[in-house]
Order: sequence, then C-alpha cells, then structure tokens
Amino acid sequence: NFMRKPLVGTSWKMHIHSIYRGEALAEAMHRSVGHIEAVDMFVLPTFPLISKVANKLKSGNIKWGAQNICIAESGAFTGEVPPLSLKELGCSYIEIGHAERRAMFGETDKDVYKKIRLSLEYDMTPVICIGETEEDKREHVGNVRVHTQILWALNGLQIEEMKKIILAYEPVWAIGQAEAASADYVENIHGYIRSIVEKEYGKDVAQEIRIIYGGSVSPDNTGPLTKQENVDGLFVGRFGLSSENFYQIVKTTM
Ligand code: G3P
Repeated sequence: NFMRKPLVGTSWKMHIHSIYRGEALAEAMHRSVGHIEAVDMFVLPTFPLISKVANKLKSGNIKWGAQNICIAESGAFTGEVPPLSLKELGCSYIEIGHAERRAMFGETDKDVYKKIRLSLEYDMTPVICIGETEEDKREHVGNVRVHTQILWALNGLQIEEMKKIILAYEPVWAIGQAEAASADYVENIHGYIRSIVEKEYGKDVAQEIRIIYGGSVSPDNTGPLTKQENVDGLFVGRFGLSSENFYQIVKTTM
C-alpha cells in the first residue's frame, strides 16, 4: 500500500544513556531487521554511541545517523558536533529541528535551515522535523505553523536536493503520549504538506518526497497509519527501544 519505499527510523533520544546498552540494542536490531530490504531503516543514537552502533550495523541494511548537527562547519562552537565528523562516522541521516530541540534548546527555523544546507553539502539525508504545538492546534493555526516551518526548511533547495530530504511530521502534542495522532488527522496534514511541496517544486518532486509520521508510534497503532496514502513511513521514539517492537513496527510497513 506504499507508493514510495517505506522508511522507518528510530531516535533513541537520550533514553539509551549507556554506551554498552546502546551497543547491545544495535546488535539486537541488526539481528531482527538488519536483513530486511523492502524498507529503508535508520537509527539515531547519541553522539558518543555513533561509532559503536556503526560497528554493529555496518554489514546490514539499517543505516545510522545523528540527532543533531552544528549550524557551522568548524570553528569556535564549543560543545557542538561538526558535519564532517558525522560524515566520517558513516552517518547517512541527520535529524534536524526535533520538537525537543526547538523547545528546550531554542532551535529556530533559521537554525534548521542552516543545518539542512550543511547536511546536504556533506551528502547526509536531513530528516526535517515539523509539527504544530498543542497551543497552535487549540488556536487553529496548526497549518500555519507547519507551512512556515516548511518554507524555512526548503528555502533555496534545488530540485535535486529536494529528492534527498525526508520530512518528518511530528505534532508536538502527540510526542511522548499514550496515543499517536489519529490516522485521519495525520493523513490530512501529510496531504497538506505534499501540496505545499507540489506548489513550490511541482508534481514529480511532491510525489517522490517521503513524509514520515512520528509521535507515540507503537506496534499497536501503526496499522491505520500505514494505510494512509500520504504516510510513507514512521519515526519511532520510545517504542523503538526494543528490537522486538522495532521489528513489529517495521513489519507493518511491508
Ligand atoms: O522522533 C520520534 C519522537 O519524537 C516520538 O517519540 O516516544 O512519542 O515515539 P515517542
């Protein structure tokens, strides 16, 4: 039921806070889904874990990446992580603009824009997180928020670059909850997102770009989500912390 190749990713956020535990989880994931070819998959550990995870995953089909990237290539940016090092660690995906970074670390649409540019320059796929807050939803400006975030993110991207990016719709009010957003709700916004891409870049790009959903995705709720025409995959948080759950979730997209 997918028009585009499904993509299932998981960010460990800081849930996995031990290098040894992360290594063990990567190994378990490699065993349970590493052989699957029908679905693109990625895992985003914390920075200090990347090389360990890479080592466990290198012979399979699960790609890895980072949860953040610096807005600059090098220089006096204390505490930041440079794009080149991430590339050298074999990162394929870079998560950009997650709701937690926007809310807790003051990341702006302009930062997101700079990080996307750099990821692309270093040939890593940006996973661009967008989504309205609870308050936006209450005030009925969810679409406006999403529209603004997309225009910033895509600012100046060429058609060839557009084909390399992933849009991750994560309504802030559905992250870390008991329930995901409803499939109807998600499909409606994903359709809206695709229509914005079509308006800016034409039908071919809009049909090709993958839009994945994140926010309390679990093996119990993926069924209806993955049946939606404009949902091209899933971005998993807490329920990606067990290889069995991750396997179950990946399976629902096949
Ligand atoms: O990036 C995925 C994430 O924000 C969703 O987290 O724990 O609600 O699945 P969770």
